[in-house]
Amino acid sequence: MSTAILGLQWGDEGKGKITHLLAREADMVVRFNGGPNAGHTVIDRGVKFGTHLVPAGVFYPDTVNVLAGGMVIDLGILREEVDTIAAHTGWAPKLLIAENAHLILPYHRLLEELEGSGAHFGTTRRGIAPTYRDKAAKIGVRACDLLRPDGLVKRLEWRLNLLKRQWPDSDEVVKLDAAELTEGLMDVAAPFIGSIANAAAAVAAALDEKQNVLFEGAQGTLLDIDHGTYPFVTSSSTTYVGLANSIGIPEPAVSRRLGVVKAYQTRVGEGPFPTELEDEIGSGFQQRGGEFGVTTGRPRRCGWLDLVALRYAVALNGATGLALTKIDVLTGCDEIKVCRAYSVGGRETDRFPLSGEVLEGCEPIYETLSGWRESLEGIDAVGHLPAAAAAYVATIEEAVRTPIEIVSIGPEPEATIYREL
Ligand code: GDP
Ligand code: IMO
Ligand code: MG
Repeated sequence: MSTAILGLQWGDEGKGKITHLLAREADMVVRFNGGPNAGHTVIDRGVKFGTHLVPAGVFYPDTVNVLAGGMVIDLGILREEVDTIAAHTGWAPKLLIAENAHLILPYHRLLEELEGSGAHFGTTRRGIAPTYRDKAAKIGVRACDLLRPDGLVKRLEWRLNLLKRQWPDSDEVVKLDAAELTEGLMDVAAPFIGSIANAAAAVAAALDEKQNVLFEGAQGTLLDIDHGTYPFVTSSSTTYVGLANSIGIPEPAVSRRLGVVKAYQTRVGEGPFPTELEDEIGSGFQQRGGEFGVTTGRPRRCGWLDLVALRYAVALNGATGLALTKIDVLTGCDEIKVCRAYSVGGRETDRFPLSGEVLEGCEPIYETLSGWRESLEGIDAVGHLPAAAAAYVATIEEAVRTPIEIVSIGPEPEATIYREL
């Protein structure tokens, strides 16, 4: 059985918690997109981690953890992360780094600052867009280049010349040196050299052998480079439609596509957000839900659940089931709203528009549901939820015609209700 965990909103849905839970049973966990822009919270044996690059299988001794070709990797961050987790678990995680994954180099972060794109889009400033841009422009550096340092220094010389022609007035750019950069890179890469391999073949073999393979998505559907709220998106394919390409496997045998959806909506950074609440209800979600970025610490914008966007995300990912998270954060609301449709230019629509400008002009049309005041702590079955909370679960399920398989009622692994469907 293989399962893909996919974010259905603007990221931070709780993918880390769900992947960590399902990884207990996995032989292999594959991160297939993005880089250290991701921040996945995992609570492992009472200790909280924010992972950026490593798949959640690193918390289990026998699990193979693949960083697939669709990722962009910052080796400095990877090294820190692996060391921290190894100190916690007591073993070095089994890693497999795709030879065709691209590397984030110091000048990628610098470019985001020089171009002002970090501030304009509210990015995570991890050099994500400049690295993916170099990949598309065929001037990137890949993990396999670390296996041939002589070739690497030549590639970097060429790349840096280009950079210096573009930014002749930047001291930081002008002083970049290919030999120095290569040396620094080889140094930080040293523990990983033996882990660089053909990841596509390894994943294909695991699937062929019917191993339990888990695919850990990063970001969320609405941040997808092609299918999200462009240009307020990330630079990779965040959805199931991009998974096979990012790894390099044919039509994958991923029978279970579990979409993760938060009980309300959040977004970090700039971009349209029709159901945003800039009032005490929104700040209540922010406080109770701890809605502060794992990667940047920025407060997340909060709002009511957007069912128009959710229907779109479920369809795009071909989600076979849902994991609904953070329903406990809604406890104490007198009433709960869900956005059923948009009003745009005097017309009502239940279609999610791909143009950010059109989405900016969309006014949410809400349905109001009853809230509940009882704590959800310790509840182990949907049937034991307060009636209004159970009705909320049913409303979402009916609206997107997809079963909710897991209901998460707290950040800890134990605070999880599994449903027999
Ligand atoms: P990810 O990027 O999708 O992995 O999500 P993040 O880790 O960035 O954000 C999710 C946040 O919600 C983290 O702080 C989690 O610990 C927390 N969380 C996950 N599930 C639940 C839940 O059911 N209830 C509450 N209260 N917090 C949760
Ligand atoms: P996880 O995996 C939430 C957002 C940034 C910014 C936009 C572009 O934890 O769900 P980038 O640095 O990727 O060029 O920034 O995308 N963003 C995320 N928001 N969760 C994430 O990852 C995100 N990764 C990127 O805030 O608005
Ligand atoms: Mg996150």
